[in-house]
Amino acid sequence: MPSPPLALIFLPFSVLARAVQVYEDVSQLPTLSYDFVVVGGRASHLCLGSALTLFTGGTAGGVVTNRLTENPSWSVLVLEAGPSNADVLEAIVPLLVFDISAEYSWNYSTTPQSGMNDAVLAYSRGHILGGSSSTNAMIYTRGSRDDFDRFANITGDSGWSWDNMLPYFFKNEKWTAPADGHSGAGEFDPAVHGHNGVNSVSLSGYPWPASDTRIIQTTKDLPNEWAFVLDMNAGVNLGVGWLQSTIGDGGRSSSATSYLGPQYISRPNLHILVNAQVSRVLQSTENSLHFNAVEFSQDQTTLYTVTASKEIVLSAGAIGTPHILLNSGIGNKTTLESIGISTVLDLPSVGQNFSDQPVTSNTWFASSNDTLESFTQNTTAFEEDLVQWNETRTGPLVDTVATHLVYIRLESNSTIFESFEDPSAGPQAPHIELSLNPGAGKLDVTPAGHFFSSTNAIVSPGGSITLNASDPNPFNAPLIDPALFTSEFDIFAMKIAILKSEEFLSASAWKDYIIGPVDVLAAALVSDAALEAYIRNTSIPASHCVGSAAMSAKSANWGVVDPDLRVKNATGLRIVDASVMPFGPSGHTQAPTYAVAERGSDLIKASWA
Ligand SMILES: Cc1cc2nc3c(=O)[nH]c(=O)nc-3n(C[C@H](O)[C@H](O)[C@H](O)COP(=O)(O)OP(=O)(O)OC[C@H]3O[C@@H](n4cnc5c(N)ncnc54)[C@H](O)[C@@H]3O)c2cc1C
Ligand SMILES: *[C@@H]1O[C@H](CO)[C@@H](O)[C@H](O)[C@H]1NC(C)=O
Ligand SMILES: *[C@@H]1O[C@H](CO)[C@@H](O)[C@H](O)[C@H]1NC(C)=O
Ligand SMILES: *[C@@H]1O[C@H](CO)[C@@H](O)[C@H](O)[C@H]1NC(C)=O
Ligand SMILES: *[C@@H]1O[C@H](CO)[C@@H](O)[C@H](O)[C@H]1NC(C)=O
Ligand SMILES: *[C@@H]1O[C@H](CO)[C@@H](O)[C@H](O)[C@H]1NC(C)=O
Ligand SMILES: *[C@@H]1O[C@H](CO)[C@@H](O)[C@H](O)[C@H]1NC(C)=O
Ligand SMILES: *[C@@H]1O[C@H](CO)[C@@H](O)[C@H](O)[C@H]1NC(C)=O
Ligand SMILES: *[C@@H]1O[C@H](CO)[C@@H](O)[C@H](O)[C@H]1NC(C)=O
Ligand SMILES: *[C@@H]1O[C@H](CO)[C@@H](O)[C@H](O)[C@H]1NC(C)=O
Ligand SMILES: *[C@@H]1O[C@H](CO)[C@@H](O)[C@H](O)[C@H]1NC(C)=O
Ligand SMILES: *[C@@H]1O[C@H](CO)[C@@H](O)[C@H](O)[C@H]1NC(C)=O
Repeated sequence: MPSPPLALIFLPFSVLARAVQVYEDVSQLPTLSYDFVVVGGRASHLCLGSALTLFTGGTAGGVVTNRLTENPSWSVLVLEAGPSNADVLEAIVPLLVFDISAEYSWNYSTTPQSGMNDAVLAYSRGHILGGSSSTNAMIYTRGSRDDFDRFANITGDSGWSWDNMLPYFFKNEKWTAPADGHSGAGEFDPAVHGHNGVNSVSLSGYPWPASDTRIIQTTKDLPNEWAFVLDMNAGVNLGVGWLQSTIGDGGRSSSATSYLGPQYISRPNLHILVNAQVSRVLQSTENSLHFNAVEFSQDQTTLYTVTASKEIVLSAGAIGTPHILLNSGIGNKTTLESIGISTVLDLPSVGQNFSDQPVTSNTWFASSNDTLESFTQNTTAFEEDLVQWNETRTGPLVDTVATHLVYIRLESNSTIFESFEDPSAGPQAPHIELSLNPGAGKLDVTPAGHFFSSTNAIVSPGGSITLNASDPNPFNAPLIDPALFTSEFDIFAMKIAILKSEEFLSASAWKDYIIGPVDVLAAALVSDAALEAYIRNTSIPASHCVGSAAMSAKSANWGVVDPDLRVKNATGLRIVDASVMPFGPSGHTQAPTYAVAERGSDLIKASWA
């Protein structure tokens, strides 16, 4: 969705500012509480008395930081590679999500994707306090009951089941009225939400009546094909439902604004150092499989070491976490040694089974003027909307782009099941998501006009994170291979997703609204081969990556962490972030990550009780 350039925006940042107690430079860390020892000429050694060292203030990292610092006798240091989130306007105004500056990104790209004509695709990850929760599209979906029951099954730990995880979803969530104050009756089920948690979740706060009413009308006209689901976060998400997102008071609610909000960040036992990139975890001198130190740098040259007396928690995300493990010699011995890194712990699953969800964005011409283009293609209107947002936190900028999501299962008699086992988590989990948007997709090059789009996502397993063999220095980006569309199943499912979108918009409710597909989509719809070429040429990764430091049963000979999130065959090292999920959930990944982090925090607390 094209928006006017950010240069148009002129807000006095002090209005948005809040005090954030983060340290920008190692030398600013409050030395009275630390024991600094200079090691050699260039490196320094910080020693925390009784400390848990936390890596990174990302989505999960913010949760763990918050929960562990509830105990005033535990001191916690957070090392975050990116800068502070304070005053980053695009990370505050929800609809500016697609204008977030590269300054707050890792600027990653994938390896050439063989399933996509060898395209090298941008791969987005937040490089900022709050991690990807500060830069993501804010859509709040928990996935399905089957997803979590599969986690419980594969780990042999019933604690990961849907029923046992629901309290952690509640603990995360602070259900909040939408910006326009509408009651939301009939648009969600209050009984399945947490109302006293930390992170704001709300229904959309600005209506798009022309399309909203047609979406709901379609569920009434064709209830068998397009069932209405009152709340897609209740465990069974199949059907058409109203979007929920991590937005409160018209602004983004991220792990940084919520879990690291002013009342928490001021805890005296919490120190956050930004612009600090971790290169490795280090072993104790007494025990080669006990990890108690972290190496990091603020300029990729001077290395510092900080020790943790209790635990190191890696929350660097599904790319950062396996990258740090591999840098540290924790990974597949054969591959590590082939690039000259000595193996500290032979754990071949590190970085493997990385999976993401490819997204194809499809656009139709709309006859209505009630679309996002009314301000994305009109600078005057956009400026007015921004003033309205600034003054009252209302108007069209209070939401993310989609208004509804649709979750669909392939029919059980689909021909693809003759050659592929069903990859879904269970009989109630979807294969496909349609995200319905009252405007063109961000990446579409559209002429002036008004549009409706449906962004479709499916699950693509089997990718990897590996070190760049030609330069494995820890500050060089790893090789990111999400292996998009390498499985024929994914191509099949995405074709169905697009055809389903077309079918939905062909329903009678849309007769006077949808004019027809834009040219590139019209050309794709002429044949099966054209549709496949369109999918392979235009899709992008959703940035919903998981699996690269997967949890598995205690007895399993694969996996990276035990069901209690401790790194297998090691001590002192825990992983709490999206990388531990062994399979992608059937939805977007932030809510599952928050719930995993809440349970992970409890597991850590329990082991030190
Ligand atoms: C553009 C985008 C849009 C998305 N949209 C949605 C959405 O609408 N809904 C949804 O549910 N999910 C969405 N997601 C996915 C979701 O945001 C992630 O799954 C989730 O935030 C992952 O949390 P995490 O804690 O595992 O990692 P992150 O939140 O990415 O946190 C990792 C943190 O570690 C830091 N880090 C990494 N390496 C190092 C290192 N070596 N040293 C120090 N720090 C390091 C990073 O800078 C970052 O702060 C989106 C993601 C992106 C990128
Ligand atoms: C990404 O690129 C932008 C400039 O385009 C830069 O400001 C930023 O520091 C880069 N991010 C990283 C992690 O290098
Ligand atoms: C996991 O599911 C399989 C197949 O349904 C079942 O046989 C197995 O007992 C389950 N394992 C656990 C630990 O629940
Ligand atoms: C380790 O990597 C080697 C070389 O890439 C590969 O052949 C082997 O299967 C891997 N080991 C495991 C257990 O995955
Ligand atoms: C990938 O995950 C599957 C379980 O889904 C597991 O059987 C396999 O061993 C994993 N592979 C690696 C390399 O970890
Ligand atoms: C949309 O706006 C244009 C120009 O402002 C106007 O001519 C047209 O009638 C409007 N269409 C509808 C359906 O309101
Ligand atoms: C652009 O927005 C302004 C302010 O809302 C409005 O007056 C004007 O008619 C719009 N222009 C078009 C072409 O719709
Ligand atoms: C934002 O609001 C403040 C007052 O709350 C005002 O001073 C400022 O001019 C506003 N900025 C814009 C661009 O409307
Ligand atoms: C699957 O079953 C439905 C009826 O439930 C039927 O309409 C459809 O043609 C079948 N598809 C295939 C591929 O057999
Ligand atoms: C690997 O590292 C080298 C040296 O820095 C760089 O030129 C190359 O582009 C990297 N490869 C990838 C795929 O990122
Ligand atoms: C897809 O891309 C390939 C090469 O990248 C090109 O040859 C082909 O014409 C493209 N097809 C479509 C339908 O865009
Ligand atoms: C942990 O070590 C034991 C004993 O060496 C080994 O059998 C097991 O496979 C290792 N676990 C993993 C996940 O590598």
